[in-house]
Amino acid sequence: MQAHDVEQKVDQLATAAMQRLQAADDAHSLEEWRVAYLGKKSELSQILRQLGQLPAEERPRVGDAVNRARQQLQAAYAARKQALAEAEQQRRFADEAVDVTLPGRRTPRGALHPLVRTMYEIEEIFLGMGFSIAEGPEVETDEYNFEKLNLPKDHPARDMQDTFYITDTLLLRTHTSPMQVRTMERMRPLAPVKVVVPGRVYRRDEDDATHSHAFNQVEGLVVDRGVRMSDLKGVLEQFARAMFGPDQAVRLRPSFFPFTEPSAEVDVRCIQCGGTGCRVCKETGWIEILGAGMVHPRVLDGAGYDSREFSGFAFGMGVERIAMLKYGIEDIRQFYQNDLRLLRQFARAW
Ligand code: PHE
Repeated sequence: MQAHDVEQKVDQLATAAMQRLQAADDAHSLEEWRVAYLGKKSELSQILRQLGQLPAEERPRVGDAVNRARQQLQAAYAARKQALAEAEQQRRFADEAVDVTLPGRRTPRGALHPLVRTMYEIEEIFLGMGFSIAEGPEVETDEYNFEKLNLPKDHPARDMQDTFYITDTLLLRTHTSPMQVRTMERMRPLAPVKVVVPGRVYRRDEDDATHSHAFNQVEGLVVDRGVRMSDLKGVLEQFARAMFGPDQAVRLRPSFFPFTEPSAEVDVRCIQCGGTGCRVCKETGWIEILGAGMVHPRVLDGAGYDSREFSGFAFGMGVERIAMLKYGIEDIRQFYQNDLRLLRQFARAW
């Protein structure tokens, strides 16, 4: 090996390496370049190892040349590495740049479900008349759902309210009326008792346009000394006007519930036609919205209010029914289908 040849080779190597370095444009190819030209197995390293084969007086010169080439390449490598890192950072800055002048993304806002809204409206009206709000269990005992409401086992009126049984004595409540008893038991001997009870109830019903196996009621109960049926009518009239408009009227028709005596079904003027008769009210001009009556003496006595001293009225309204009337919804199932096309129509702000 001639010193001169080696020097030339080193020169060529360095030139080639410098050229190839320009082509390394990412971290991976830059690393390949480093291994090829500066690594332990690179030609420069090999030349360095073979230096011993040169005559002793030539070694320093050639060694110097190799070292200079190495330093040059190392410096170029470091510069290239930094340039690439900077370019990469610039690219990320550009990619991740936020245009602060763009309008923000709007989060879709939720809104009250028409049923919940109707429930709140009903509650609001009764709160305004001095009622408080109570809530009770959806899983009820046979005792509260039926027995204490004067519906003993085998009473035929139970047929109307067949339900889902959890055990022989535990069931999904068929109405909010058990809360009449629970409220009186909790309040006694205080008077007046004046509550409304919103909540979900269950029946063994086939679902159709007007029936659902799960629906919502609002129960009302007033117990005091000297409560009369005219009080019931007055309260319901006030409710009907607040809910459906100032021209509203209510009509009581005789009915039967085991836990009220006398009992009534209560109608309001048809919201659709105003009373002249139409399809919605089946040409009667009236629409039933709830059941009501004077609390049966047996229920009062059983719950701790002596029926010789106290009297009371109770009512139970179907929330779906009222929402359907108020908002012109024709099929009860639409409340439960979560169809945004329907729900959006009731969203004040969306
Ligand atoms: N609980 C009865 C029903 O669901 C309604 C009702 C409540 C009737 C209160 C009278 C008094 O059908």
